[in-house]
Amino acid sequence: MQDAFTPTSLLVTGGAGFIGSNFINHFMAGNPGCRVINLDLLTYAGNLKNLAAVEENPDYRFVKGDICDAGLVAGLLAEGEVDAVVHFAAESHVDRSITGPDIFVRTNVLGTQTLLEASRLHAERVAGFRFLQVSTDEVYGSLGAQGYFTEETPLAPNSPYSASKAGADLLVRAYSETFGLATLNTRCSNNYGPYHFPEKLIPLMIHNILKKKPLPVYGDGLNVRDWLHVKDHSVAIERVLKLGKPGEIFNVGGNNEWKNIDIVNLVCDLMDERLGRRPGESRGLIAFVKDRKGHDRRYAIDASKLKRELSWEPSYTFERGIAETIDWYLANQGWVEEVVSGAYREYYEKQYGQH
Ligand code: NAD
Ligand code: DAU
Repeated sequence: MQDAFTPTSLLVTGGAGFIGSNFINHFMAGNPGCRVINLDLLTYAGNLKNLAAVEENPDYRFVKGDICDAGLVAGLLAEGEVDAVVHFAAESHVDRSITGPDIFVRTNVLGTQTLLEASRLHAERVAGFRFLQVSTDEVYGSLGAQGYFTEETPLAPNSPYSASKAGADLLVRAYSETFGLATLNTRCSNNYGPYHFPEKLIPLMIHNILKKKPLPVYGDGLNVRDWLHVKDHSVAIERVLKLGKPGEIFNVGGNNEWKNIDIVNLVCDLMDERLGRRPGESRGLIAFVKDRKGHDRRYAIDASKLKRELSWEPSYTFERGIAETIDWYLANQGWVEEVVSGAYREYYEKQYGQH
């Protein structure tokens, strides 16, 4: 294990999104005195309401802006005397990447390269500077019924989203190898928890069950994902930032594989209990729809390196995490109503209208 790096000033990108906001809330609670600049473009997926807990904190600053704006990024790094970048900003939804890949290449590839280049120049003046790239297990492609992704698994992305993330990861590697930039790269499985945008499977199902709308399950519903609570992901990122050896990649996963249809059934049953509906009532809303193009069959992460080297393990059981998540959505229906606004309604119609 490395000697601990103690950041004094972080630039977090995409900190108004699902994972970025959970990370900032977690990190600022545990690291008083460390300044945090949150650079976020506030696309459809960004929401400042996620950050109510930190907005009055004098160490926190929000900047609305684009990671592709090289001048803005360089200025923030210099003014903020930033000693670490934690890079979340991305287009993150696979289905959107199938209908409109361009923005994924711009944000995820060009945006990452813009941040890396500014970081390279900035690092020449700031000893100990680190760049942490937050990435995904999807860069490894798809598994059959057996086996796990390790950090050595070759990259074989299948969707425009995962290809753009793999491209970004390779640029991170190149800046480490070519320029000696101190980079770290995490690759995590599917997250769930509060502030998850309702285009994604779990919050989409919760929302549609509440509204008694159809529950669209792609294909045969037997695709497998490995689910991790977003707070456990936040803890992992903090640990890698402080203790990871530069140049290394760390897989992050929940060792918690579920077939999609089993997750949907579970969410239906937990919702029925809470809403006082008849047992099995919401399962009646399930509708098998046309499969996602190029739908990866199974993801499963081997996170043993993170456990062995940095003593990280998930703290949430899925039973607790999913129950708390459902309760959070039921207690925060105003948040959901607000994000499910005009632009999202258009996307929803386009995505599910024809299925
Ligand atoms: P999200 O879509 O909820 O949030 C993305 C954020 O990035 C939003 O706040 C958005 O406004 C911002 N953003 C987009 N384009 C930007 C730009 N050009 N400049 C500045 N900000 C911009 O995404 P998420 O689910 O929170 O994912 C965060 C990161 O974690 C992504 O890099 C994603 O690839 C990775 N990841 C996600 C998961 C998951 O399960 N959601 C799992 C593993 C890795
Ligand atoms: O594995 C990590 C990845 O997890 C992240 O890198 C991505 O940013 C994140 O969006 C997520 O990707 P997935 O494609 O796995 O997540 P999504 O919630 O879109 O879908 C989960 C599974 O559920 C997937 O097999 C597709 C299926 N699905 C999804 C939707 C939205 C359905 O069956 N019906 C749906 O309506």
